[in-house]
Amino acid sequence: MRGIFSDLTMAPLLRVAVLVALAAVCAVQGQQPGLLRVPDRSAPTGAFLDRVVLPVDNAGGFAGWWTVVSENSGVSAMHLAIMRHGKAVMFDTTTTGPSLSMLPAGNCRPDPRSVPPGAMDCSAHAVEFDYNTGAVRPLKILTDTWCSSGAFDPEGMLVQTGGYFEGVKVVRHLSPQITSDWREFPNSLADGRWYGTQQVLPDGRFIVVGGRRAFSYEFVPVAGQSNAQATPIPLLRDTTDDVENNLYPFVHLLPDGTIFLFANDRSIVFNPQNGQVLRELPKLHGGARNYPASGMSALLPLDLRRGERLSAEVIICGGAPKEAFKVGEINRFPPALRDCARINPSKPGARWSMDQMPVGRVMSDMLILPTGDLLMINGAAQGCSGWAFARQPVLTPFLYTLRKPRGQRFRALAASNIPRMYHASSALLPDATVLVAGGNTNSAYNFSGVDFPTEVRVERFTPPYLAPELLATRPEIDVASVPANGMKFGAKFAFRFSAPGQPVAEPDLKVTMYAPPFTTHGYSMNQRLLVLQVTAFKPEGQRYKITVHAPLNPALAPPGYYMVFVLVKGVPSKAAWVKIHH
Ligand SMILES: *[C@@H]1O[C@H](CO)[C@@H](O)[C@H](O)[C@H]1NC(C)=O
Repeated sequence: MRGIFSDLTMAPLLRVAVLVALAAVCAVQGQQPGLLRVPDRSAPTGAFLDRVVLPVDNAGGFAGWWTVVSENSGVSAMHLAIMRHGKAVMFDTTTTGPSLSMLPAGNCRPDPRSVPPGAMDCSAHAVEFDYNTGAVRPLKILTDTWCSSGAFDPEGMLVQTGGYFEGVKVVRHLSPQITSDWREFPNSLADGRWYGTQQVLPDGRFIVVGGRRAFSYEFVPVAGQSNAQATPIPLLRDTTDDVENNLYPFVHLLPDGTIFLFANDRSIVFNPQNGQVLRELPKLHGGARNYPASGMSALLPLDLRRGERLSAEVIICGGAPKEAFKVGEINRFPPALRDCARINPSKPGARWSMDQMPVGRVMSDMLILPTGDLLMINGAAQGCSGWAFARQPVLTPFLYTLRKPRGQRFRALAASNIPRMYHASSALLPDATVLVAGGNTNSAYNFSGVDFPTEVRVERFTPPYLAPELLATRPEIDVASVPANGMKFGAKFAFRFSAPGQPVAEPDLKVTMYAPPFTTHGYSMNQRLLVLQVTAFKPEGQRYKITVHAPLNPALAPPGYYMVFVLVKGVPSKAAWVKIHH
């Protein structure tokens, strides 16, 4: 059975047929309805490495499409971000040893942990990856970025914080240019940030929150400066259990400039300017949600068309039982959490509203698509984060449709055939497809004798809104019409687009803007989608001129570069990169 999913690249239609046939077999055998398990008895450890593939839900039409962008990205993408110059940056950690990408001759990195001292590490631990061609440019990072954090500044520069060992207090900069390389600023942070979360603030600064034994937050200092101290957050200490299920806390900037912080099973709203806790929300029962339990979380799209009635909701899905990491050490892998919870953190007396995923997920990514729907992708159905602490890769992505009623929101899409376990990542691309990369559940780059070989293949997932039959009518932004000086807070913003082969009326239209996140360990920091209010729309020959109202203030949309999409009847254009500023 293994060959069907792991070794053969089948035409999608054939694959669908096989999945449906296998689903029928499993149903007869009395398995959980809708869940298809493909046992893999070929694993080196003798374990039964089932893959979880759900029957594709074809009722909604085209269910997506997978292609391989690259067989070898050189570095396994533990951390991934899309930069405004049209490239992805991927990086791993020096802790997993040499990668498959070498630094240019004579440009090796002194290895601070070598025994005896003085050895050089000549492999690259970061690459600039061209997601259109698969081309790789090695980048040089001096210090260990293991389990670090990042975000983009108002100019689109990646500002990246923390990591491990000699890297734990480092701030690093990477500019959006095809010639740039990392600049590192050691001893910048007051507390070591290993598994911390970074969030951009309305004033363009960043806070970095939490991390191992760091029960605090601090503002990321400008280049060359150092923080003397951090501000304590008692919640982080209080939610530290025996396996630290509160790392990589979920942090979301709310529309009033306050911060939602979720750790383990508790959450607060606090004021980042003084650390004051404004309210605590009800506990989210059922297990743990943060690393190593590694659930997913996002701020749901901010619909600016609602004006004064704008509300912000946070969603948290999946995760693991609190003891998952502990029992992983004795090779037990409990089922991941299936529940999905939503709350409006600003509403007095708010309660979690619960829903169920078709199958439990841990270590998955949750990406906001240009439509405002969510994609849940990668990860596993058993166990938790940690080297070899999970089983049952879930190969099926879920589409989560916001506007549908509870019970109908999840749709099983076309499955990949590549497991993406611990240390995998994914990112929305400006062409509205999704880049899927990485995965390394071994403590070194290891391609043999292990249950899940280190993954250096990079895939692209094409979501249902780019069905082949819809491409002929896909809207296209006239890039030359996009104002070169970007978008000003609260001002009108106009551009032109074409939409071949169909008349377009104003109700068919939607304009969204997406803040590109920094993704690692199943969490996309700073991810944000805004739905803009259209204020004018008029045909101009073969094209249309559209005017939108830019977000009023930087608490809604922190300054920086966004991907702006126009959607016609739910089909997104390719994005234009647009800077929003004062
Ligand atoms: C890969 O893992 C196997 C099993 O643990 C081990 O025997 C082997 O030495 C590892 N290879 C490398 C390159 O680390």
